[in-house]
Amino acid sequence: MQKIIILDFGSQTTQLIGRRVRELNTFCEILPYNKYPEDDKDVIGVILSGSPLSVYQEDAFHVDLSHIRGRLPILGICYGAQLISYSYGGNVESAGTREYGRQQLQYIDRENPLFKGFDERSQVWMSHGDSITKLPEGAHRIASTETVENAAYYIPGTQPVFGTQFHPEVFHTLQGTLLLKNFVVDVCGSRQEWSAEAFVETTVKELREQIGKDRVILGLSGGVDSSVVAVLLHRAIGDQLTCIFVDHGMLRKNEFGDVMRDYQGLGLNVIGVDASEKFLSDLAGVKEPEQKRKIIGRDFVEVFNAEAQKIKDAKWLAQGTIYPDRIESLNITGKVIKSHHNVGGLPKEMHLQLCEPIKWLFKDEVRRVGRSLGMPEHLITRHPFPGPGLAVRILGDITREKIRILQEADAIYINNLREAGLYDEIWQAGAILLSEVRSVGVMGDERTYENPIALRAVTSSDAMTADFAHIPYEVLAKISNEIINKVKGVNRVCYDISSKPPSTIEWE
Ligand code: XMP
Repeated sequence: MQKIIILDFGSQTTQLIGRRVRELNTFCEILPYNKYPEDDKDVIGVILSGSPLSVYQEDAFHVDLSHIRGRLPILGICYGAQLISYSYGGNVESAGTREYGRQQLQYIDRENPLFKGFDERSQVWMSHGDSITKLPEGAHRIASTETVENAAYYIPGTQPVFGTQFHPEVFHTLQGTLLLKNFVVDVCGSRQEWSAEAFVETTVKELREQIGKDRVILGLSGGVDSSVVAVLLHRAIGDQLTCIFVDHGMLRKNEFGDVMRDYQGLGLNVIGVDASEKFLSDLAGVKEPEQKRKIIGRDFVEVFNAEAQKIKDAKWLAQGTIYPDRIESLNITGKVIKSHHNVGGLPKEMHLQLCEPIKWLFKDEVRRVGRSLGMPEHLITRHPFPGPGLAVRILGDITREKIRILQEADAIYINNLREAGLYDEIWQAGAILLSEVRSVGVMGDERTYENPIALRAVTSSDAMTADFAHIPYEVLAKISNEIINKVKGVNRVCYDISSKPPSTIEWE
């Protein structure tokens, strides 16, 4: 299949470039800047990302483009454009101050293939501390802004090179998607063949070939990723798939039963395991977040293994790993900060091979695939939920009573978000029980001394960064009222207004 390669120089927006290219129904891979593939026969173009570094720094990421240039079209974005300039006879200098924010492209060569269909003036997003003060050899300027003379350049040829100082991948560059489309479709010649339907068709075929008559085990979590994998596999191999859904006792209110019903409605062969006794007794008295996570992780593997071993002839373990879990994002020291994680701990003697059919998909693509598979909308749009469940939303030790309080408050919160039409606008929401904190309140004529509930809701596109969701006060007031009136043990509700970073989405 045709693909675009995105070489990552460590920018925060590299993943966004990938998502924009996929939105153009074009397959792409994000690779560390120095890992361009040896076999590139399917590659139709290359995009160089931005970077927090300066090209003239000693430890900057440099790459020899000579084996790409002239063979494939190249688009350099920000640092990528500077790198091309720096490497091919141009000049890059510190701009003195960091230019950050919206600017208007004032001079646009709208005859240029990159700007086809552009308005006379167009808002772009800049974020750079360096400027290209001299263009690379053979290049000419195709756009400027008031403060950035060389905002975009073009080196003509049968395989042309483009550079943009601004970021077409970010939302604030209003015609950014058009620019990327011009590059990917018109210049590189993408046939735009990457779609959810095509993905389902080819993946089902590949899974049948890969798995044959073997039996496959899959751990379900109720989340969209593992559910989509289950339905894909079910379509490919039917009852050769056995799913295991472990209830650790810290799921949302009624979630275990609801999700089991959903799965059974989809025709899946699911074993539901109620292991809450084991988890809760192992967690008794434990307050420290990392220790809680470790116990839950260990218990999960134990319970899952015990069930998996009952399926004697299983040959494969399927997982809902998605692309962002695997992209080796670079930090500025070049170290890998996030790499592939999988469910460790399955006994080696089981000799299970890994099957990860959605490992190339971004979250929004997983959802599109789910729709194309005809899955119910509420399963597809379900908010992400952490593996350790409410354990990381009860600050302090965990008891059945605390779980009950949190489940009740959380259910009221989520129902209200749905009723207010806000649920689908929010990436993830949940209530947190501050069980180590008590404050004074008054109910009727009675003094109360009870726990607060914190409400968390964030907007995000990948959970790497997040902003708190701007829920209207009226909705918050209704939720607060309902929780305090209905949930015994809670007398105060707060709303978490921190973003990530520096905070995280979960409290523990
Ligand atoms: P943080 O709290 O790190 O969370 O900002 C980022 C995203 O990851 C989810 N999360 C987890 N998911 N197991 C999971 O499967 C975990 O241990 C875990 N911890 C956090 C979190 O809900 C958010 O979507």
